[in-house]
Amino acid sequence: MGKLVVGNLKMNLLSSDEREKYFELFKKEISGKRLGDCEIVLCPPFIHLEVFKKTLSKRTKIGAQNMFWEGSGSYTGEISGAMLKNFGCDYVIIGHSERRKYFCENNEEVNLKVQSAVKADLKPIICIGETRIEKETQQMLSVITKQLKKALEGVTRPKLENIVVAYEPVWAVGTDITPTAHEIMEAKVLIRKILVEGFGKKYAEKVPILYGGSVNSRTVKNLCNDPEMDGILVGRESLVPHEFIKIAEIISNSN
Ligand code: 13P
Repeated sequence: MGKLVVGNLKMNLLSSDEREKYFELFKKEISGKRLGDCEIVLCPPFIHLEVFKKTLSKRTKIGAQNMFWEGSGSYTGEISGAMLKNFGCDYVIIGHSERRKYFCENNEEVNLKVQSAVKADLKPIICIGETRIEKETQQMLSVITKQLKKALEGVTRPKLENIVVAYEPVWAVGTDITPTAHEIMEAKVLIRKILVEGFGKKYAEKVPILYGGSVNSRTVKNLCNDPEMDGILVGRESLVPHEFIKIAEIISNSN
């Protein structure tokens, strides 16, 4: 399995000027770089998706940061999976901790979105992870088990190959705090176990498991030391193409 390096640009790039500047730097950084079989995915705000798709080469895949579970109709302000697919998205982030926190997204809604994304032929990147309090009260295992099992309800075995899981401990996102490589591996082992129990080894092995939360070019080596790590979900540093591509280079050379 090749490595996956995903940039979540969040609510940034406020104007077309900023976007153009980003493209200029991104193209400069990626050109001529040997990234092996590393897949690069950028997830800009909805408003930029079409231009990202048209501007960046096929080497860079495009993803959205959210979607609604209904296909079309009277849902003011929402964007469906079919719309994302038709405008060139391959991936969609679902259940990010910032959506769970600011928009009260719960596990049931995450599941509806995952099912709808799969139906639209998108690859959902399902974000799971415990809060600081949950970590301190030894609930990490139970929280991520509950989040993942619910997220995958109704997903059939053959469709599992379109699923990506990202372990993003909430206490690490947007901070400078990172888990130890051991803590990340513990989460990864648990996630793989849940997948194997639910779908069988043959299917479960195809699911990339990413780590996300305060990754930069200095921390990435330690965080993803283990060749078992399938990739990274990068937040802030994806806004700096030089750093983002450096992270991808480190990952692609990690085994
Ligand atoms: P930071 O890398 O900024 O901590 O954000 C991680 C994240 O939320 C990726 O989805």
